[in-house]
Amino acid sequence: MTSQLKSLISDYSKYLRGHSIFLERSSQFRSVKEFIHNELRALNCIGNGKSHLNVIGVGSGTGIVDLEILSELHLMHPSATVAQEVVEPSTEQLEKYQALVAKTPGLDYVKFNWNKKYAEEIEDEWKEKKMTKTVDFIHMFQVLYYVKDPEATISFFRSLLNKNGKLVICILSDASPWVKVWQAYLTGLNFKKEHHFLSSGDVKRLLDSEGVSYQSYELQSQMDITECFTEGDEKGEVILDFLTQVLHFSKTAPPELKAGVMELLCHPDYGTEIDGRVMFNDVTAMIII
Ligand SMILES: C[S@@+](CC[C@H](N)C(=O)[O-])C[C@H]1O[C@@H](n2cnc3c(N)ncnc32)[C@H](O)[C@@H]1O
Repeated sequence: MTSQLKSLISDYSKYLRGHSIFLERSSQFRSVKEFIHNELRALNCIGNGKSHLNVIGVGSGTGIVDLEILSELHLMHPSATVAQEVVEPSTEQLEKYQALVAKTPGLDYVKFNWNKKYAEEIEDEWKEKKMTKTVDFIHMFQVLYYVKDPEATISFFRSLLNKNGKLVICILSDASPWVKVWQAYLTGLNFKKEHHFLSSGDVKRLLDSEGVSYQSYELQSQMDITECFTEGDEKGEVILDFLTQVLHFSKTAPPELKAGVMELLCHPDYGTEIDGRVMFNDVTAMIII
């Protein structure tokens, strides 16, 4: 029965709607922002002393995270210029990113290079061109679930780093109830490499097996999922699809799968009720290589 289920990303417009509601409903971006401006600054080791920085954003989406990172890099290196490669396959996301850049003042130190491409396409292209440019900072925020081969993607982008370069991976933590729901009910689904139910433990195991050193941080956040519990609520169904990464989850999941997921979503260990709203806990890992 579960073999009938489709991954959310197989319908890009539905996926993007889910992501946009997620951003509206979750405090994850606030935690990520704090991390960028506190922990990343505290590291104080990105591009030290250089007058020009090469940066790559993989799966940059609408650019909200990228601009936070750029502003922090600018604070660290006020006189440095930045070349920002944006790798993002969705036209809609790229257009939103470009609109955000157009309305954000003070970005004259950055030159954006827009790549409407999948990470895998960029990998093939740069390998073919035998690109020799090395990179100071690469970030992959919430994107490794969607690449064909996460191990190959990490390994390729890591190979572009210069001696003091850093790669930051932002991914759901094993401690996140979101991942507990995946592990209990969804990890067995075969989504033909369109989507991997990947979390921080998988990335760490991979890095450990290659002897790569890294630092890891955990960020707490919450998401308002109240409408998920109202049968037929349109927004609730979109949130449910995003949480499970299954397209039309309510309508296509077998009853026992749906019941199990719904039970975990309102489990007191995984969330709290505040003023009649169901707030689902989330934990995000930041892995700095
Ligand atoms: C969850 S969003 C994250 C966006 C942004 N990094 C953020 O944190 O707000 C994932 C993004 O990855 C993009 N994406 C999906 N598959 C990809 C691939 N194979 N290579 C690069 N980006 C991809 C999607 O279009 C989407 O914009």
